Amino acid sequence: MERERWATRLGFILAAVGSAVGLGNIWRFPYITGQEGGAAFLLVYLLFILIIGLPAILLEFVVGRRTDRNPVGALKQLATGPFRYIGYVFVVTGFVILSYYSVVAGWTIRYTLIGITDGYSNAIGEYEADAAGLEDVSAAALLFDNIATGTEAMIFHAIFMAIVIFIVGLGIRRGIELAVKLMVPAIIAITAVLVAYAYTLDGASEGYEFYLSPDFGVIASDWTSILPAAAGQAFFTLSLGMGVMITYASYIGEDRNLAKDSAAIIGLDTLIAFIIGLVIFPVLFTAGVTPGEGGVGALFIGLAEAFADVSGGRILGTIFFFVVAIGALSSAISILEVVVSYAVDELGVERMRASAGAGGLIFLLGLLSAYDLVLLDFFDLLVDGVLLVLGALLLAAFIGWQQSDFAIDELGKGVKDLGDWGTTWIWMIRIPVLIVLVVSLVLGILDYWEFLTEDFSAWLDI
Ligand code: PFF
Repeated sequence: MERERWATRLGFILAAVGSAVGLGNIWRFPYITGQEGGAAFLLVYLLFILIIGLPAILLEFVVGRRTDRNPVGALKQLATGPFRYIGYVFVVTGFVILSYYSVVAGWTIRYTLIGITDGYSNAIGEYEADAAGLEDVSAAALLFDNIATGTEAMIFHAIFMAIVIFIVGLGIRRGIELAVKLMVPAIIAITAVLVAYAYTLDGASEGYEFYLSPDFGVIASDWTSILPAAAGQAFFTLSLGMGVMITYASYIGEDRNLAKDSAAIIGLDTLIAFIIGLVIFPVLFTAGVTPGEGGVGALFIGLAEAFADVSGGRILGTIFFFVVAIGALSSAISILEVVVSYAVDELGVERMRASAGAGGLIFLLGLLSAYDLVLLDFFDLLVDGVLLVLGALLLAAFIGWQQSDFAIDELGKGVKDLGDWGTTWIWMIRIPVLIVLVVSLVLGILDYWEFLTEDFSAWLDI
């Protein structure tokens, strides 16, 4: 059967942007930035996007376009020896990411519905009495606790997965491309409105200060945790290290200028993450929430509190959480697509079936994260600190040192005159990118080990 193709140029770019922009930008980026010291982290992160994000996304694109395959098939075609199996690392990573990603996406649906049915101040109000008896726990935090785990969380996780399965099952043009063409412009338009709103808040200047003026002392003292967190976040937000961009590039028909497309995709993703920070930090400071303190719940607790307080908060909050849900959806479909393209291409499974089967298994794994937030952290830290960096590292080492000729040749297609850029790119990958990846991987493993021996083992003891 002829392989499906994107119907339009824009379709491919929007799909890649749709994959990149998601919970990573809106939920993860602000709370990791908060935890890692604000502006200092932002600086390292932006640097990483440029020096490792750009070379790494190009790598995935050339591999996908040249082989016309899913990541497992692509690597089998290109490699001999152990590198043949890199694609399987990607598929496993996809399973793990989507399992908890969908749980968080379920929360965004729930928070959208709260805006529609009760409004944030009423919903939080119901927990006021309970919170009054507790020290240091706000009513908004109790509301979050109630939503984040347990039966409700599982139901919304199921609803979200069902939508993802359906869209991916429809295929590239009828499903993914159509969906992202509606979703991405909506995300951009609504985010712009929110920035203007945040600017009017009392805590705006304090928020900008935390977010935008770096304290270099923090980088010097905390680099062992800032470095892997920034590298992991750079990969997470650009959907790198697990074959999404290989898969999406395998549906490109013509020879396009991949460098230009990459710049557009990375530019948009970074812009949206940056702008979301301009919304969230003012909102958090206005509500008196310390960034980074609420952990995975920071965004939900802080924002629900803020939306409960300010006038027009109910409508704005509803719209905000709806945008986040849409962003999550366009990313989630890209993750499932990696697994499904593998099942369709390599195992010959029919598309809708593959989508339902893989999505169903991912749903089951996700029930663990919906059961307890420690398990969500267990998966998230594994993905971000270890698996994505490992996937990217293996691909960079393999292409950089064993297959650079084909990569430069493929990059040159659709480009008028590549000049020496191809060689510069490969050397960037061979040395600086690989060094950053190796250091980040080692630190990421140590960080994960610390989590396993501290928070996680404390939880197991209960
Ligand atoms: N880039 C997505 C986000 O920022 O939410 C998340 C993601 C999608 C990560 C696809 C990894 C991936 F392969």
